[in-house]
Amino acid sequence: MNNRYGKLASHVYNLDKYIGKSFGDVEFYRSRLSECTGAILEPAVGNGRLLIPLLEAGLQVVGFDASQEMLDYCRLESEARSLSPNLSRQTFETFAYDERFEAVIIPAGSFQLITDYAAAVGTLQRFFDHLTPNGRLIVDVDPIGSFLGDASSIRQWSTTDGDLVTLTAHRVETNYVAQTTISHLRYDRWAAGQLVASELEFFSLRWWGVEEFALALRAVGFDDVTVSGNYEYGRAPKRDDQTITFEARRRS
Ligand SMILES: C[S@@+](CC[C@H](N)C(=O)[O-])C[C@H]1O[C@@H](n2cnc3c(N)ncnc32)[C@H](O)[C@@H]1O
Repeated sequence: MNNRYGKLASHVYNLDKYIGKSFGDVEFYRSRLSECTGAILEPAVGNGRLLIPLLEAGLQVVGFDASQEMLDYCRLESEARSLSPNLSRQTFETFAYDERFEAVIIPAGSFQLITDYAAAVGTLQRFFDHLTPNGRLIVDVDPIGSFLGDASSIRQWSTTDGDLVTLTAHRVETNYVAQTTISHLRYDRWAAGQLVASELEFFSLRWWGVEEFALALRAVGFDDVTVSGNYEYGRAPKRDDQTITFEARRRS
């Protein structure tokens, strides 16, 4: 299975993208959501990097994630701050709630983990169906250039108990027709120079053109599509922007 975010991958995510770590997105989402009084949904909530600061700002955020390991970090980090968010194990492809949300938010390029076009459009439709009239969808996507840079990389982190975790990434496939990449992410945990655990993740992503994504939003019924570059709301994306954010409204 691809994009599993298993034990070592989740551990590294929580070390690298700890609660409150911001790429400009924590401040941006807090500001865009500041008028919300009802429930907000964060699909692919992960370890709660964004959800927890939003809860601390007084917003009512509900989250789901496909990875039990990521949800475990989110629960642990929430409990450490005396928070008890509504979290569940669900997927983009099949999630369902009885309630409707004032906003659905997907930061960090997580929407691009859906690599099948039809499944992605089906997920946009499910987001639309879960919004209240006048509710908003806010989604970040990484620009196409970020998919086509260095094909290989090595990174490392120290754990709290002094072990070393290394991540060796290789992009092994690029499909220019399907607009997808597949990378092998090998996580290794080392204790006193000895390998004590390894994990291989097959990591796939889909890139979207700016107009393609706006068209997909309108096709499922969204209106008032605003596209922003680098978390400057309303500023059209420029060539070297790192993040493109779409905000769209379900009118009725
Ligand atoms: C890049 S992390 C984002 C976490 C968090 N939203 C943040 O901003 O830091 C992507 C998350 O997507 C989750 N994920 C991957 N595939 C998924 C799927 N099909 N349905 C729901 N969540 C999924 C992963 O488990 C992981 O927690």
